[in-house]
Amino acid sequence: GLSRVLGNCLHHENARIHRSINASSLLNRTWSYRFHKGRSNNISTSTDYPEFRDLPHIKTHNDLYKFSIEDPELFWSRLARSRLTWSKDFSTACKSDFSKGKFGWFEGGVLNASVNCIDRHLEKRGDEIALIWERDEPGTHRFYTYKKLSEMVGKIGNLLTNSGVKAGDRVAIYLPKSPTAIATMLACARIGAIHSVVFAGFSADALAGRINDAQAETVVTANQTIRGGKLIELKKMVDAAVSKSPCVKRVLVYYRTEAKVPMGKLDIDMTKAMVQESPNCPVVERNSEDTLFMLYTSGSTGSPKGITHSTAGYLLYTNVTFKHAFDYNVGEKFGCVADIGWITGHSYVLYGPLSNGGTTLLFESTPLYPDPGRYWEMVERLKLNHIYLAPTSLRMLLKSGDEYVKKYDRSSLRKLGCVGEPLNHEAWEWYYNVVGERRCDIIDTWWQTETGGICISPRPSEIGADIQPGMPMRPMPGIDLALFDSQGKEVKGEDVEGALCIRRPWPGMARTIYRDHDRFLKTYFQTVPDVYYTGDGAHRHKEGHYQITGRMDDVLNVSGHRLGTAEIEDVMDDHPDVAETAVVGFPHDIKGEGIYAYVVLKDGRKTKKNELDQQLRNAIKKKIGGLALPEVILFTPGLPRTRSGKIMRRILRKVASNKFDELGDTSTLSEPEIVDFIINKHKELL
Ligand code: PRX
Repeated sequence: GLSRVLGNCLHHENARIHRSINASSLLNRTWSYRFHKGRSNNISTSTDYPEFRDLPHIKTHNDLYKFSIEDPELFWSRLARSRLTWSKDFSTACKSDFSKGKFGWFEGGVLNASVNCIDRHLEKRGDEIALIWERDEPGTHRFYTYKKLSEMVGKIGNLLTNSGVKAGDRVAIYLPKSPTAIATMLACARIGAIHSVVFAGFSADALAGRINDAQAETVVTANQTIRGGKLIELKKMVDAAVSKSPCVKRVLVYYRTEAKVPMGKLDIDMTKAMVQESPNCPVVERNSEDTLFMLYTSGSTGSPKGITHSTAGYLLYTNVTFKHAFDYNVGEKFGCVADIGWITGHSYVLYGPLSNGGTTLLFESTPLYPDPGRYWEMVERLKLNHIYLAPTSLRMLLKSGDEYVKKYDRSSLRKLGCVGEPLNHEAWEWYYNVVGERRCDIIDTWWQTETGGICISPRPSEIGADIQPGMPMRPMPGIDLALFDSQGKEVKGEDVEGALCIRRPWPGMARTIYRDHDRFLKTYFQTVPDVYYTGDGAHRHKEGHYQITGRMDDVLNVSGHRLGTAEIEDVMDDHPDVAETAVVGFPHDIKGEGIYAYVVLKDGRKTKKNELDQQLRNAIKKKIGGLALPEVILFTPGLPRTRSGKIMRRILRKVASNKFDELGDTSTLSEPEIVDFIINKHKELL
């Protein structure tokens, strides 16, 4: 079993897609860039890591890294005690059992995430800006101080409690990126409820699926949202979802716009109700391992999984990685443009920045609205010091030309971060040379919904160290990376490739899949025993620098959004005229990966193909959302199969990628002529 799984994985073409985008061009380059700060590799334990001031053997980042791996107990417990505020100290740093997928951090400890993100900053930083809300309407930003945010959190916390929400209850949040959304997440944390944010780009059906899986009694939404100047009827979508979710007892509606929307008997006008509530909301103390939130993400099979994160471990991990991956100093303005519906929004819009007492941006719009200069005009107007975005937006923006960037003053920028997909070479160069004027470090960060926070990143406080373009490079402290081959054997040395795994627990790791621990265990801890299996492939270069080669399973990464091929196939398979389908990814200039669907129709159907094409697209939009729409739907009389009946997805990927000469031997297929049919049809569609 193991060797087959890994063998398939390592030869998976998704891994090759990314390799062909950037790795081959990188491998023969020897140049690199230096971090723009100082000249030596020494860390200052007095400013960067004062917790280790008394340990004279820690002089460099490498020393610190080594120490974090050799003595994780001491490393993490000192950080936990100094960076978080506890109402009761913990007794052990970490307990772990890989064979059961059970992990516990800082057990015995008691704390509250909202206290750590707000209350403890109020005395010194109460009048400083916590949130900058960059509204969709250009030039209409709003500032929210820590005091103001604290009041909102208190009011919403009281509103939730008074409406019947208790500690441990799940609250589904389907909101645009707004101070109300952040305050609702923190209000949940304050009263011990578990938030489950659903990206507002997912359809009503997708929302209903997530509400039902989580058995959420409470939904928080908005009357409408506005994105790129277009109104989206959010409340209508929630009404449709709630009609399929009998567990829902109440819907809180925030008025983002003036528009009246029909209010039913479950609905509460949140904007109005908040006026009545007191801003002082009692704190419900949490144990370290109590769940802070859950967030659905796609896997290679089945329905989306509700990844759960703990209170103490997650909070500490986002706090520490935020500070050190971006070299963030309190007072700086951090601009992560990701939506709160994704893990990036949880960790680096909310929990990382606010637990550090930082100033964080809420970007409600799109990079192209009103024109491709939006990011840079915003950087100039708000004087942002950091920007953190997805490579897909860079690839899109660089096509619009440099003048949209150069028009605006970007001298406030210090670090340029990215996440979600490999940063291809062209985008790296453009980010570094044009956006950053060769002055700012590029911080390529690798991590996942499941890892909670950044695991691989160049570490800019590593003064004077090199940055290699196109790879996240270095494991963060406490992250023990290893590569494994198709036999499940560790691959050692440099310039080697394998399945990327993490050998040691870290505080930010997911604790389970909601109500399905078995799936958690199988997905992450059984392919290779005794390690966390990421599902990504990686190349380890000289000096132990890591480059990600892409997913090894059937998970797609479209514009940095994670989608399961099986989810899209399931929707199309439900159509009465469809016999079977296969969805694969192919390299896409802007999206990184595009979606390609092969569809086999049943005999004797009456509907015309172009109508079917439209019906399938409508179904995908309805069941999942516009983000899962395929670039191409190709109708075929059959799919290439082995004699034993297995669909040859490898061949489907090659055809979708125009790599007709890499199909290999097709003579062993049960119907080799299907391949010719598919190739010809594909060429017609181009
Ligand atoms: O394949 C990797 C890719 O995104 C996947 C995780 O997706 P998600 O859970 O949605 O989280 C995205 C934001 C943290 C990974 O398995 N990925 C993420 N960062 C990078 C990346 N691929 C290459 N380079 C990265 N820096």
